[in-house]
Amino acid sequence: MTQPKRYLVTSALPYANGLKHVGHLAGAYIPADIYVRYLRAQKRDVVFVCGSDEHGTAIPIQATREGTTPQAIIDKYHEAMKQDFEDLSMSFDIYHRTSSPLHHETAQEFFTKLNDAGELEIKETEQYYDEEAGSFLADRYIKGTCPNCGSDRAFGDQCETCGRTLSPDELINPVSTLSGKTPVKKKTSHWYLPLGKHEQFLKDWILEQHKDDWRPSVYGQCKSWIEGGLQSRAVTRDLDWGIKVPLKEAEGKVLYVWFDAPIGYISATKQWALDQGKDWKPYWQDKETKLVHFIGKDNIVFHCIIFPVMLQLHGDILPDNVPANEFLNLEGDKMSTSRNWKLDMRDYINDFVKKDNGGPQAVDMLRYYLTQIAPETKDSEFTWKGFQDAVNSELVAVFGNFVNRSFVLMHKLCGGKVPRLQEDLLDDTDKAMIAEFSNTKAEVQSALEYYHFRDGLFQVIELARKGNQYLQKKEPWIVARQVAENPAAQASIDNTLHICLQLCANLAVLINPFLPNTARKMLYMMKVVEKMLDWENAGKPNLLSTGYSLRAPELLFRKVEDEEIAAQIEKLKSGLIKSAADNAAAAPTPQKAPMQKPEIQFDDFAKLEMKAATVISCEKVAKADKLLKLEVDLGTEKRTIVSGIALHYTPEEMVGKQVIVVTNLAPRKMKGIESQGMILTAEDSDGKLQLLRPENGVAPGSGVS
Ligand code: 2FM
Ligand code: ZN
Repeated sequence: MTQPKRYLVTSALPYANGLKHVGHLAGAYIPADIYVRYLRAQKRDVVFVCGSDEHGTAIPIQATREGTTPQAIIDKYHEAMKQDFEDLSMSFDIYHRTSSPLHHETAQEFFTKLNDAGELEIKETEQYYDEEAGSFLADRYIKGTCPNCGSDRAFGDQCETCGRTLSPDELINPVSTLSGKTPVKKKTSHWYLPLGKHEQFLKDWILEQHKDDWRPSVYGQCKSWIEGGLQSRAVTRDLDWGIKVPLKEAEGKVLYVWFDAPIGYISATKQWALDQGKDWKPYWQDKETKLVHFIGKDNIVFHCIIFPVMLQLHGDILPDNVPANEFLNLEGDKMSTSRNWKLDMRDYINDFVKKDNGGPQAVDMLRYYLTQIAPETKDSEFTWKGFQDAVNSELVAVFGNFVNRSFVLMHKLCGGKVPRLQEDLLDDTDKAMIAEFSNTKAEVQSALEYYHFRDGLFQVIELARKGNQYLQKKEPWIVARQVAENPAAQASIDNTLHICLQLCANLAVLINPFLPNTARKMLYMMKVVEKMLDWENAGKPNLLSTGYSLRAPELLFRKVEDEEIAAQIEKLKSGLIKSAADNAAAAPTPQKAPMQKPEIQFDDFAKLEMKAATVISCEKVAKADKLLKLEVDLGTEKRTIVSGIALHYTPEEMVGKQVIVVTNLAPRKMKGIESQGMILTAEDSDGKLQLLRPENGVAPGSGVS
């Protein structure tokens, strides 16, 4: 593998509409920061950019919620997020914002170049329009009655009561939230990016070239998008908050937020280059730059399909990898802002970093746990007990303990100085321990190069664990009892502690990308300069000079107490109750009871035939975002079913799953495919459909009653 000339690393630009939680931190920020710190320690040319995503309807909606202006909202949350990232030791080279004039110019130039080259198409559609307010309505600005549950708290994108995902056309009695009037349908034109034209490019670039190096979940999602048929995507909107479309005939239109946001990576690079007196162009235009986007899985299509098509048309480089993470759940449930089931970065900062002088140590405790549970291949879970265990049994009991013991023993048995090493006295245990320095370096390096951050961190802790085992085996405190009658015993003690201290120095270099504050504290204890953390030093057995006096040890980590954990769980639960009460108070009294289906007799129910089935194969239905086509095994027969679950499950996820099928429903054609049954699902409060399935699995064809 030839080494790239330079790196451009990005973390998803968070929306400036609220504080971000630790799920975001684990998904798109900490892994990127580890990667970048590792590259910097290798002295590679790297720029790490991020910033606030300040457009889209999310912003004016939050402004309405807080009774203020969109500008006030972005100013408030941009500053807050920037501060939170800083407080958690994120080392962006620049934290920019998409409301900056430089970004507006950059995004407009991008649009103009694509449009002038004839790469965009204009289409006319009908959309809801508020005649009184004189504006088209974004989905979220239309309110009405939910066709599903009858609640009048339904919006053009989703029902707030039952959570179902909606489109404006499905709403009963739609009303504009701007004027309270009934909107009318009006023709409007928009600019579209015809993704279908680029199918071959995407197939060659992703499906062929990145078959082996992209994460399977990322590759799988791209594959099903590409194979499901790529539809043109509108890149403009009728809104007044956003970047103006730079065309006379596009009065009142702005660029779609997902068109401008990723361009934010480019404008951030430009601003960084301006600040540093450097040239930004090679970072985006020279093929020898390695571009890596760190994101959460909900952003895959934008970073792997839409933005790369834009970049390619604009003549820029393409991402080399997009190591997207899955989601992080919290204490058994999905994190949710509306239900207040989350741990905001800000809350952790207040409760652990700022409180009781938690400081940098508390920052590293969180970075440690979030890396240890990083949702790299599947969703994972943050629990306060897990956090406590990770800190107490690994950071305190393994890493911190080893470093502390080494320092305490060196002060006690070697006069506070790095003792000398007598090579001729090294035994096999010593040699094996020294060999582990470079073995671990190789393991960590390979893990980091391939974005396996959990594994990399695990290897570092393993090395500390081996250090403890080594000390336990050598027992220098026992050997010390012999020194009075056998002065040669001191040489054995010296060798052991020399090796332990060199191991401490190695641990500092290796832990640095993950826990930068810990590494720096270790530098202080060892009285060495930052340069020692250069990656080339990892693996070396002679980082500390013999005879060099070191400081007294300081505890690297503190224990997390049971009471702290109990308090956090209590806080989480009371937040949930409060948010439920707030939501109920905010809900208008229903005009009428939610729609209920009429009562039926048992005989009516008995007419339904339902069976358990296993999914044998599954694919997306072409030109239908929401549909999956499944082949299911019903024990005695196989059937084809078309189901509207494509936004909730990928084809890969479905294969092998057990589902419940209504088998005696008359066949229906959907998108030309005959569906021979219906899969049962339940909709959760976030609008996600979840499959109904037997708890422990049953034979295909088993009856359901
Ligand atoms: O999902 C989000 O939070 C988006 N604001 C991410 C944008 S990433 C990039 F494209 F800017
Ligand atoms: Zn509803």
